[in-house]
Amino acid sequence: MYFLKNTNINALKYPSRAAAVIMQSVENFITPGIHSIDIDKFITCLARKQNVTPATLDYKGFKKSSCISINNVVCHGIPSKNSVLNHGDIVNIDLTLFKDGYYGDLSKSFCVGRSTQKSKALVRITEEALYLGINEIKIGKQIGNIGYVIQKHAEKYNYNIVTKYSGHGIGKIFHGYPMIYHHGYLNTNVIIREGMCFTVEPILNERSGFTYVLEDQWTIKTIDGALSAQFEHTVLVTRGGYKILTKL
Ligand code: MF3
Ligand code: CO
Ligand code: CO
Repeated sequence: MYFLKNTNINALKYPSRAAAVIMQSVENFITPGIHSIDIDKFITCLARKQNVTPATLDYKGFKKSSCISINNVVCHGIPSKNSVLNHGDIVNIDLTLFKDGYYGDLSKSFCVGRSTQKSKALVRITEEALYLGINEIKIGKQIGNIGYVIQKHAEKYNYNIVTKYSGHGIGKIFHGYPMIYHHGYLNTNVIIREGMCFTVEPILNERSGFTYVLEDQWTIKTIDGALSAQFEHTVLVTRGGYKILTKL
């Protein structure tokens, strides 16, 4: 189980906060006609300015500073000169940053240019699901509650959760325990304790929650070609409740 023992809280907070700062600039940079590789290059520059290292760079062979996932790409999209943003696209930017021994992880989805009601709805409901899940973080309660409310919210709108990918403990390690499922039952799984730090990062699909991996071994797509959206925060469990470290 990942607990923050011997943790320098300020050092823990730094990469998460930097991710939030960078994400603001990235949001303003997103526009129809831009290539995902150029968003990634922009992120590389901003990371350098903030004195943080993109954790995905050379992570298990991943070669970019961010994951950029468009429309039916569920997650782990590789920034490329061949992928251009169009009006109506949903684009997710996932940023994991590292500094002085600590990781922070943030992702957001955006509707590009002139969008459609159905794209806007999926993005909005996914963000709502994230915050509903985070709101269940209470010392002494169980982690199953987070997934329960997220799944409930998704299913209310006939969306499906991607159950294959989960949130994770984070801090001195990129991906650790506890695993944070975005589906499940009330009062199940690990008990939430002060000093835990983990991500909540629900992925909601417009239709089936099933996915497949492309030949590049990274890109994850929806099985039916339908749209997907994701939001992620890094959250620290505190005595008073929780603190979202990736929020300004
Ligand atoms: N940031 C992703 C997460 O939320 C992980 C990306 S790993 C990569 O956990 F290798 F695909 F970049
Ligand atoms: Co994550
Ligand atoms: Co992430």
